[in-house]
Amino acid sequence: MTATPAIRLIDLRRRYGDFEAVRGLNLEVQPGEVFAFLGANGAGKTTTIKMMVGLLPPTAGRVEIAGYDVWKEPRAAKRVIGYVPDTPILHELLTGREFLWFMADLYGLPRAEARARTEALLADFGLTDAGDRLIREYSLGMKRKLAIATALLHRPRVLLLDEVTNGLDARAAREVKDRIRAWSREGMTVFLTTHILSVAEELAHRIGVIHRGRLLCVGTLAELAARAGRPGANLEEVFLTLTGDRLPEEEVAG
Ligand SMILES: Nc1ncnc2c1ncn2[C@@H]1O[C@H](COP(=O)(O)OP(=O)(O)OP(=O)(O)O)[C@@H](O)[C@H]1O
Ligand SMILES: [Mg+2]
Repeated sequence: MTATPAIRLIDLRRRYGDFEAVRGLNLEVQPGEVFAFLGANGAGKTTTIKMMVGLLPPTAGRVEIAGYDVWKEPRAAKRVIGYVPDTPILHELLTGREFLWFMADLYGLPRAEARARTEALLADFGLTDAGDRLIREYSLGMKRKLAIATALLHRPRVLLLDEVTNGLDARAAREVKDRIRAWSREGMTVFLTTHILSVAEELAHRIGVIHRGRLLCVGTLAELAARAGRPGANLEEVFLTLTGDRLPEEEVAG
């Protein structure tokens, strides 16, 4: 029996004016997998993830999350998706606790469950005491933890994280990485974008290298190293090899 893939991208494309930022992505991610979408600045990671969560319409192609077409069955898809944007939008004049209640209400959680979920998530992220402070008084790390907690309110099966360790100090980054592992062990699928090699290397079951809107290759680190002709190399060497010599000609032509 083959399970429905947690994520399927089918010839996914996005154009901004004359510029094609995402150029025909095909990918499957399986339930429980941690998949890292690794690419340099401007490679097309955020554009892709926004199409995956239903925020940015693709120019062509499809996205399926847990079998639901994000653009044809948005409600069903969004029920299974949790999303943490690269710059989370939080209501700075609410307290962390109020914000979670507010978002739980948007997700349609019954009141008692919203309260219970809020307290559990605040506790899980070490924010119980900060819960009654205004979000604008939170540090960057606290804001990011609150954004992740928000994305988990409705118990999503597929969590999409855009540069989730950005701005986090070593300890906070460690905590988030440990949590991602734990969620994956519990069966959640995690798709994360990063330009930080160590994040991909440490966390991901498989890595996809995106370069100028194209997926250059997908696999475990060992598979990528073999593909790059650098068996046994670390991810930095592999990444630089893969993305160094392969600038598509049309890029030069504009
Ligand atoms: N709204 C937009 N209008 C025009 N071009 C855009 C827009 N958003 C992104 N782009 C361009 O699309 C390309 C991909 O951008 P994207 O934000 O997806 O990259 P990224 O991989 O997330 O980069 P980073 O690591 O810096 O976050 C870039 O060349 C960017 O300039
Ligand atoms: Mg980005």
